[in-house]
Amino acid sequence: MEKFSDWRDKGTGISPFMPIPPANSSVPVKYVLGPIWALLKIVPSVFLFLLSSLCWPVGFLFRPVLRLLLLVLFNVSEIEFLADGVKKSNTKQIDSRRPDKGQLVFVNFSSPLDCLVLYLVSKSNNCSFLTADSRGNLRKLNGLLETFSFALAQPQLTYQSAAPVDLFKLKNSVVFVLAEGTTTNNRSVLAFPPIDLATVYSAYRNTFEFKAISIKVLPPSLVTTPIPRSTVSYLYSHLSHLKWDVNFRLKSFDLGDLKPATIREKLSNYGSLKLTGPDLDVAKKLSFISAYNKTSRRL
Ligand SMILES: *[C@@H]1O[C@H](CO)[C@@H](O)[C@H](O)[C@H]1NC(C)=O
Ligand SMILES: *[C@@H]1O[C@H](CO)[C@@H](O)[C@H](O)[C@H]1NC(C)=O
Ligand SMILES: *[C@@H]1O[C@H](CO)[C@@H](O)[C@H](O)[C@H]1NC(C)=O
Ligand SMILES: *[C@@H]1O[C@H](CO)[C@@H](O)[C@H](O)[C@H]1NC(C)=O
Ligand SMILES: *[C@@H]1O[C@H](CO)[C@@H](O)[C@H](O)[C@H]1NC(C)=O
Repeated sequence: MEKFSDWRDKGTGISPFMPIPPANSSVPVKYVLGPIWALLKIVPSVFLFLLSSLCWPVGFLFRPVLRLLLLVLFNVSEIEFLADGVKKSNTKQIDSRRPDKGQLVFVNFSSPLDCLVLYLVSKSNNCSFLTADSRGNLRKLNGLLETFSFALAQPQLTYQSAAPVDLFKLKNSVVFVLAEGTTTNNRSVLAFPPIDLATVYSAYRNTFEFKAISIKVLPPSLVTTPIPRSTVSYLYSHLSHLKWDVNFRLKSFDLGDLKPATIREKLSNYGSLKLTGPDLDVAKKLSFISAYNKTSRRL
């Protein structure tokens, strides 16, 4: 779309914030079958949601309920976890590479469901999620619900009065870092805000193992949220469609160092995904949202 060419990456021509339009559904599906299907799915979904909040403190009960909720509400039929350099068939090796406590894991984050899936593939029940503002200050998100909402919300330029995150306090959990600071569509990895990774590396290399996990989700048009949406409209689009099968493919990489170039190379799966330049950042995304608001705001 020409009118959004200001938010296109100069080098690659990619528009990382442009929502991917869903295939149009036919009139009967949109106005009759969809709403009926949504009504039918609401009851079991609410039941599973309440059950999961009851089970929450007990990991071995919470996990299967959360998995079932993802299946019923979001039709997530498959979550595949692979490790870089390990054959798919070598499940023992792959399981040993699952995220665990004492690891700092950089991820390319694009949807509210990502945090739930990351929790499910982890060995530890203790997961923390960090993100960064445009100045590179890290902020801890409060649990799965806040991380879910974070993916639906407008990014913030700066976090006021947030105390610096003390990573030592998190050493008994898996710490996931949403290093791009905001969500994008599935087309690229953004340049990181200026997080002081050199200091993180020297201060914590004896406390944490460093990893990266790339998250690929299909179909991106339904699942990813590059621009803000209300929770209700997001849930409704999942409840009311009749045909999408949602699949997650995650791949884990070991990180020898914490240079942004290294992390982004791994997140792009050795360049299979494009890297966009430094001018497409959180501030640029806000101006995109504002322009998008004016012209093509949907429901
Ligand atoms: C979970 O992580 C928090 C923060 O790191 C820590 O205080 C708590 O002891 C951990 N719980 C378990 C069971 O490891
Ligand atoms: C992103 O999603 C679109 C639409 O499903 C797909 O055609 C495209 O190949 C995807 N791009 C990447 C880099 O995965
Ligand atoms: C859910 O996914 C399955 C494939 O696993 C597909 O056959 C089915 O149509 C999907 N259901 C809905 C409601 O999208
Ligand atoms: C994350 O990275 C993987 C591997 O490079 C890619 O396939 C996937 O589309 C990316 N996801 C997003 C939302 O950019
Ligand atoms: C876009 O629109 C939403 C809803 O109308 C509003 O809350 C948000 O602040 C707007 N964002 C920008 C950057 O203008």
